[in-house]
Amino acid sequence: MVLKKTWVGLVSLAAIVAVGCASGASTVSEESLGLRKTNLYTEKAETAGEATTYSKAAAGSSKTFARAFENAPPMIPHDIEGMLPIKIGNNACTGCHMPEVAPSMKATPIPASHFASFRPTTAMGKDGRITKEGKGVDNTSDFKTVAHKLDKLSGARFNCSQCHAPQSTQAPLVGNTFTPDFSANGAKSSNLIDTINEGVQ
Ligand code: HEC
Ligand code: HEC
Repeated sequence: MVLKKTWVGLVSLAAIVAVGCASGASTVSEESLGLRKTNLYTEKAETAGEATTYSKAAAGSSKTFARAFENAPPMIPHDIEGMLPIKIGNNACTGCHMPEVAPSMKATPIPASHFASFRPTTAMGKDGRITKEGKGVDNTSDFKTVAHKLDKLSGARFNCSQCHAPQSTQAPLVGNTFTPDFSANGAKSSNLIDTINEGVQ
């Protein structure tokens, strides 16, 4: 906290000095400099801002969010109280989201991409060159991703909260003017496993 304040102070000071030099008069107010809309000497509740809050709607009674962009990991719309941290022997998320149980829970099933490994089979050829999927590859950006289907959830997808997060109910601090281009169902569902090589020649 102390370090943070010092930095805010230094940055604002630099800005005031810079503006002061350029225009000959210091016309920029402290309140307009940063995300905090109060001057640097105020530390009361109005500086602290709103506490971040999350949906209290129980799983099954929340409304899903539109995806941020095509194949973005969807935000969690429901309360996750008591579900975290995910542990090796205790993953509540899979209890409702595994494809075999999801329809009966009315939950979105975990997609096919989470039951695959996208890591290429890598080996050293006889000539000492690295091969991926049996072929020598000079430039990995030319390499088409191969989805190796797994018969279980990929270990890389076990820790759901690494990629899926609840959405804060607080008004955004900074507006977002990005408008995503979605394919037909892209705002509501994902298809990464089918489109992973899009744009790769
Ligand atoms: C009790 C069952 C249950 C549990 C446990 C649960 N979910 Fe859900 N989840 C749902 C349901 C049902 C929905 C659909 C929205 C609704 O009806 O609330 C959903 C929606 C979602 C969505 C949005 C999907 C979309 O299509 O936009 C994500 C992401 C999600 N859950 C992730 C998680 C994660 C991560 C966990 C573990 C921390 C978890 N869920 C635990 C039942 C559950
Ligand atoms: C490494 C990041 C990552 C992890 C870990 C991860 N996901 Fe995802 N998830 C994604 C991304 C990215 C998408 C959207 C693209 C895709 O894969 O289809 C997605 C999509 C989803 C969807 C939407 C499916 C649909 O048809 O629209 C659900 C539900 C979901 N994940 C649940 C989970 C659950 C439950 C876990 C934990 C068991 C989990 N995910 C772990 C990144 C992740």
